[in-house]
Amino acid sequence: MSLSSEYFFRGGGCEVKTFQVFLLTIALHWNAREMKIHYSANACLLPICSLYGAAVTTVEGVGSTKTRIHPVQERLAKCHGSQCGFCTPGMVMSIYTLLRNHPEPTAEQMIAALAGNLCRCTGYRPILDACKTFCKVSSDDRSAGLCPLVYILISDDLKVTTDLFRIYEFQPLDPTQELIFPPELMRMAESQQKRALFFHGEQMTWISPVNLDELLDLKAAYPKAPLVVGNTSVGPEMKFRGVVHPIVIAPARILDLNVVKFTDDGLTLGAVCSLSLVTDVLTNAISELPEEKTKVFCAVLKQLRTLGSEQIRNVASLGGNIISRKSTSDLNPILAASGCMLNLASRGKRYPIPLNGIFVDGVGNNAITPEEILVSVHIPHSRKGEYVSAFRQAPRRENALPITNAGMRVLFEEGTDIIKDLSIFYGGAVSTTVCAKQTCWTLIGRHWNEQMLDEACRLLLGEIALPGSDSGEKVDYKKTLMVSFFYRFFLEVLQSLKTTDPCCYHGIPMEYRSGLQDFKTKMPQSIQLYQDIEPSQSPQDPVGRPIMHQSGIKHATGEAVYIDDLPSVDGELSLAVVTSSRAHAKIVSIDTSEALNRPGVFDIITAHDVPATNEFYYSDDPEIIFARNKVICVGQIVCAVVADSDVHAKQAAAKVKIEYEVLEPVILTIEEAIKHNSFFEPKRKLEQGNVDQAFETVDSIIEGELCIGGQEHFYMETQSVLAVPKGEDKEMDLYVSTQHPAIIQEMVAASLGVPANRIMCHVKRVGGAFGGKLLKAGLLASVAAVAANKTGRAVRLILSRGDDMLITGGRHPFIGKYKVGFMNDGRIRAVDAKYYINGGCTPDESVLVAEVSLLKMDNAYKIPNLRCCAYACKTNLPSNTAFRGFGFPQSALVTETWITGVADKTGLSPEKIREINMYKEIEQTHFKQKLDPQNLIRCWNECMEKSAYYSRKTTIEEFNKQNYWKKKGIAVVPMKYPFGLGTRYLTQAAALVHIYTDGSVLLTHGGIEMGQGIHTKMIQVASRELNIPMSYIHFCETSTTTIPNACASAGSAGTDVNGMAVKDACQTLLKRLQPIISKNPKGTWNDWIKEAFEQSVSLSATGYFRGYNEKMDWEKGEGQPFTYFLYGAACSEVEINCLTGDHKNLRTDIVMDIGCSINPAVDIGQIEGAFVQGIGLYTMEELKYSPEGVLYTKGPDQYKIPAVCDIPEQFNVSLLSSSPNPYAIYASKGLGEAGFFLGCSVFFALRDAVTSVRSERGLTKTFVLNSPLTAEQLRASCADAFTEMVIGRWGKGQSISG
Ligand SMILES: Cc1cc2nc3c(=O)[nH]c(=O)nc-3n(C[C@H](O)[C@H](O)[C@H](O)COP(=O)(O)OP(=O)(O)OC[C@H]3O[C@@H](n4cnc5c(N)ncnc54)[C@H](O)[C@@H]3O)c2cc1C
Ligand code: FES
Repeated sequence: MSLSSEYFFRGGGCEVKTFQVFLLTIALHWNAREMKIHYSANACLLPICSLYGAAVTTVEGVGSTKTRIHPVQERLAKCHGSQCGFCTPGMVMSIYTLLRNHPEPTAEQMIAALAGNLCRCTGYRPILDACKTFCKVSSDDRSAGLCPLVYILISDDLKVTTDLFRIYEFQPLDPTQELIFPPELMRMAESQQKRALFFHGEQMTWISPVNLDELLDLKAAYPKAPLVVGNTSVGPEMKFRGVVHPIVIAPARILDLNVVKFTDDGLTLGAVCSLSLVTDVLTNAISELPEEKTKVFCAVLKQLRTLGSEQIRNVASLGGNIISRKSTSDLNPILAASGCMLNLASRGKRYPIPLNGIFVDGVGNNAITPEEILVSVHIPHSRKGEYVSAFRQAPRRENALPITNAGMRVLFEEGTDIIKDLSIFYGGAVSTTVCAKQTCWTLIGRHWNEQMLDEACRLLLGEIALPGSDSGEKVDYKKTLMVSFFYRFFLEVLQSLKTTDPCCYHGIPMEYRSGLQDFKTKMPQSIQLYQDIEPSQSPQDPVGRPIMHQSGIKHATGEAVYIDDLPSVDGELSLAVVTSSRAHAKIVSIDTSEALNRPGVFDIITAHDVPATNEFYYSDDPEIIFARNKVICVGQIVCAVVADSDVHAKQAAAKVKIEYEVLEPVILTIEEAIKHNSFFEPKRKLEQGNVDQAFETVDSIIEGELCIGGQEHFYMETQSVLAVPKGEDKEMDLYVSTQHPAIIQEMVAASLGVPANRIMCHVKRVGGAFGGKLLKAGLLASVAAVAANKTGRAVRLILSRGDDMLITGGRHPFIGKYKVGFMNDGRIRAVDAKYYINGGCTPDESVLVAEVSLLKMDNAYKIPNLRCCAYACKTNLPSNTAFRGFGFPQSALVTETWITGVADKTGLSPEKIREINMYKEIEQTHFKQKLDPQNLIRCWNECMEKSAYYSRKTTIEEFNKQNYWKKKGIAVVPMKYPFGLGTRYLTQAAALVHIYTDGSVLLTHGGIEMGQGIHTKMIQVASRELNIPMSYIHFCETSTTTIPNACASAGSAGTDVNGMAVKDACQTLLKRLQPIISKNPKGTWNDWIKEAFEQSVSLSATGYFRGYNEKMDWEKGEGQPFTYFLYGAACSEVEINCLTGDHKNLRTDIVMDIGCSINPAVDIGQIEGAFVQGIGLYTMEELKYSPEGVLYTKGPDQYKIPAVCDIPEQFNVSLLSSSPNPYAIYASKGLGEAGFFLGCSVFFALRDAVTSVRSERGLTKTFVLNSPLTAEQLRASCADAFTEMVIGRWGKGQSISG
């Protein structure tokens, strides 16, 4: 298993590098019945002791380049399913496990298997393409794109193709070739006596008893010892909250606790049954028993399907979920409402209690004593006249803990709709599952009608008291959900009553039935279209072909090396940082005594240990390595502990005591920064035309404000450094996960006070960066380097996910204020806009981000009179930094918002306003740069046509008329994305190419591989230039020793500029070889190289690119900061559930002008990956801070990035054909960032759906939707009688049941 898996997702929230366990032995231990189970599990949560007797397969065991790669690995790589590759082993393991159990899975099984795997790069489409090649496909699926059909459209000399990979090249999946269960483990299981197992560790003893008596004795002896089954509840507590359990009891082998028994009145399930097993048992029972008896089973099963992920459900136990009594348990509310019984035992006693009894005190703490254990759970059959349902709403539909859930049951007097018994339980509301007991009692005897509903909702809101919203809780949303869920239950029961007796009960009106269904995740379909290469192109020339990522196979086999995979160096130390817990405070004292006495601790490093520069002045305010006298944000690094292991370093870091004296003011928000006039300088302004005069002549003016939240990079590989002092001449090797080796070298050299030529920075690959590994990586590298310098030892610093999210900042939160003047016909004549970005506590690149937000704010529109200003606010949040798009995704969202505002006001459609104001001919931007919008218009028109926008809009209008609780929305958004970094020197680049005498070529350049496929493209360039196959060319690493002073790999410029440098180097070499080739034209490459060597021709050359001639004069407000423009358009369609705020992305069509693609597979992957990241920013990723500036969202549990369930069900991407770009290598365009913004088409489609809801409900007032447009905001915007009950925004006095 790659070591990297251990660090990054210790909560198991996203299975980056899942591994698989074969479980055969446990069955043999129990009953000598052979049973093979393959299941995937999270490496970070599975206790090693629980694997006794099990066979574990990791990604390396599945296949390797040294032996044979497995079809899963091959297909993931060849279908372009890996970019940075960090998530790829986890993907492999999830698919592999599924195939071990189901060699020909259905699309549903496949999509469920991947629900828990996150990828930040690809947008999932290519991963799913690989998956589909294993699925059963019907002929319908083929025509819908389930299979990679290659259809080529020919129009004269133009060929457009969908051919991204060749399915016939794949080796078949042959289940007979799979690993067998190791016979020695089988023998061991058979021969072993059944006796308790003991494992002793440094801090803990693990005891695994074999029978119930043994277990009860142990529990009596160690009442405080937890029973650990899946460890998904105990594990995170031990890892994150420092809980220590000296004794742990593992009851998994006890037969009584594994029972599955059907009785006359229900089903009894052992407490250690995994949730996956429970799912299977219930599924079978439902298919076999009469419907009337299985309503409870169905409701429980519904919750199980979305509970956690498969990896969690495979190990988490039923008993664990019930007994841990977390408020977020999805099972407790429905099990409690359904009258389930718990069979408890303690020494000498066995007795049943009703499950709902364990929640009676409201905190769930009585009823089960520490000596008692849960043996089994009895789930009853439902009865005639009984109706049961379960509901949940989470921040993401799958693999996310619920915000609120509910279990509800009603029993009617026979043959009537009079309530005989009612149970309502909620989860997520308070600290445990809670029962609405009073409400239920009050409603007994009532008819199931509207009056009852109305009263029930008011009673529920009165009875279930929710705590205040200080802790970031979504109180109003939860309350709205509570009543909305009850309403949904009301509708379901009404509808069921109608089925039982259509004469007596009328059911619910047609348009209200849409409230009855939840969204389900379907296997997405997709079509990717690009222009094929000219038929005349040499078959060996790889440019323009969909070449696989050069590390793709290594990603899939786990052989690709990241920083944490580097073998440890002799005497190496691990480093853990100690960060500030105050946002703005004086450091009064740092007490390290206890930490220094902890086992394994070597030293503690503070600002005093920095030999030279601790503070870097790139502008007026410094970037700081270690806080010295004061802290300026929560998460600022104050000191660091170095120890002999990561665990020891972290344990000691927790013991460092820092005393603070709070300083005023504490500025956290943009509003507070404005109030305190706290900004980084300079402020920027651009202006054209006469704005004030134009406002006097327009027909109408709108004014508004849009808030856009920040975004966490969530690169899969957290910030990582290995600093290795070389022992002489103050040399140091640094292996860093960074986009900018030169800045690492510069900062480390400055901090150590040595010349840069002593510091060697090496980067093989980076597990995702997205802008987050520039300056921040430099500071962290300096922390490690200072420690290595002080101790003389190698020091490794791998940030945990929580620390990474806390310390490193992300995308800038943004407020855009606008005033827009326009004519009644939709022409916008004047715009006055102000942008405020929350820069955090140090400048980083905030002023640059502010500048870019101004330069790109016009998006696709010509606004004759325009004034815009940007301010970078200085606050006490962690310093924000570069992030894909660099200010454009925010300022252009503001632009598109006022575009829709103008549409609302004029009564014209948003697309009409867009068309009216779009750049149409060769024009000048607001900073006087010329642009030709021809391809913008082409993208727009193609997108309108390919998406069949108008006909779908009509269909959607029809759908919306017929459905009250579900609404669809559609939006199409154009994009102009300027390419450039504003200054020539920032786009210079160099390359170095060596040819060895055996003909092999070693290529290097200054670009960093972080998933964007730059090395693959550079090899393509070298292959074309040298006219040799790609297989002759190798790329080893990017290093400051080979390419000095390389610019950052950022701003989409990597391929453009390094490509030119590689081309230059190759042309130099070819020029030198030319005389030899001319003399022997029929010779081979190897002949020529041999001859060149013998003639003393140098076989090594550097290549150089001076950079683009870009400049911007901010004094005059004009310039040529960009070299060219990319264009695009995206049309998205969504459906929202008005009762919950949930939504589903139905379809997206993207058309992008990226010039002539060097590698269409890589480029389409970049567009899709960026687009899905954009969906994250605009619709779901939400950072939350306490009022004191403490980040709440410090891991995948709290911060949700898009998963497989979030990508559009139909996801089409077309590259604009015949659009060569004269300014970049091989007529291509740099496109890493551009696709991101198009994610906002989903935001505007959601807005369209909300508009439809509101206009239907007579709510004509303008409404504001901020970003991210989460389920919470959507629910609040879909105002109705339920929101009225909670927040009073409705006031229409309408009937809530129609
Ligand atoms: C990433 C992730 C996502 C999750 N998502 C969801 C979700 O969406 N919905 C949801 O409901 N839950 C979710 N969970 C929680 C998960 O379902 C529970 O943690 C799990 O069911 C607990 O079972 P376990 O076997 O892992 O418990 P363990 O961690 O092994 O034990 C849990 C506790 O229960 C006690 N216990 C266990 N068995 C017994 C017994 N037989 N008798 C007495 N005490 C016992 C133990 O002493 C311990 O205190 C998630 C967890 C993770 C890590
Ligand atoms: S390829 Fe999936 S996270 Fe990078």
